[in-house]
Amino acid sequence: MRKVIDLQPDTSALLEESIAGLKASPRQLPCKYFYDAEGARLFEQICELPEYYPTRTEVGILKQHLPEMAKLIGANARIVEYGSGAGTKIRLLLDALREPVAYTPIDISREQLAAAAEELQRDFAELEIQPVCADYSSALTLPSPQRAFARSVVFFPGSTIGNFPQAEALALLKRFARLAAQGDQPGGLLIGVDVKKSRQRIEAAYNDTQGVTADFNLNILKRLNREVGANFELEHWQHHAFWNEQSGAIEMHLVSRREQQVRINGDRFTFAEGDSVHTENSFKYSPDEFTELAAQAGFVRRGLWQDEEQLFSVQYFELP
Ligand code: AVI
Repeated sequence: MRKVIDLQPDTSALLEESIAGLKASPRQLPCKYFYDAEGARLFEQICELPEYYPTRTEVGILKQHLPEMAKLIGANARIVEYGSGAGTKIRLLLDALREPVAYTPIDISREQLAAAAEELQRDFAELEIQPVCADYSSALTLPSPQRAFARSVVFFPGSTIGNFPQAEALALLKRFARLAAQGDQPGGLLIGVDVKKSRQRIEAAYNDTQGVTADFNLNILKRLNREVGANFELEHWQHHAFWNEQSGAIEMHLVSRREQQVRINGDRFTFAEGDSVHTENSFKYSPDEFTELAAQAGFVRRGLWQDEEQLFSVQYFELP
């Protein structure tokens, strides 16, 4: 089995952050904790849903424009992917690149990360693959490749940047910029960003008729029960997702179906019927809005690709 560098947060972080979130106002749980093995599997299922347009649209854009993207990235690059998941999109990119030197996938879901890295190594024997299991919402020390590389390029597809509030998104982009500065030449950032569109289209994507997104949302409660001994009764919670026009995000919540008490460790939480716990924001950006945010981190846009309906964008930024 390929060696995974393990910087994964332990259950004490899950416990502490969850309790802090449930004591906060409004109540919240960090969306990064969706991705245990079951959550990662449910997310893969979401990506296949007819209503969930981001994945297939982004893959379509990548397939159509990868030669151009690869040309901008150039030969002998080191690629660092944040939130690599099942590792499907990186295959497309690696196939298009000229002699990539190293690939560092970073993900919070250890089992999926190890399996994906293993499989990739079989197909890209020359590539130095250095998987890192970590919560990348705070700063990380990443391994350096053994071989020299021309530039570092961050690959951040899937509009995962949208799951960070703007201040955190900017802090993350600034860390990407520092990483992109490593190497002989200034590097870049290839990023997928979901675009603002009609409420109807967005809300359908997060309220699928098969209920997979609801299961994905509720799975965080299952995880708290299993890993930190909470006693959430899942049948007393309901998935709720709506577009918040003002903030520019689709919000996911878990809403209490009745008055109830939940115990986590030594803490007790009381919920009235209709009380909600905010579990995820998914911010959407027009290409110009995002370019402005990336510029604050020092990036200059070199490429913008969209599908015909302009549902989604893939953008390439470089350090000047
Ligand atoms: C991973 N992330 C970009 C997804 C999103 O669309 O915000 C997570 C997700 N939540 C519900 N459906 C998918």
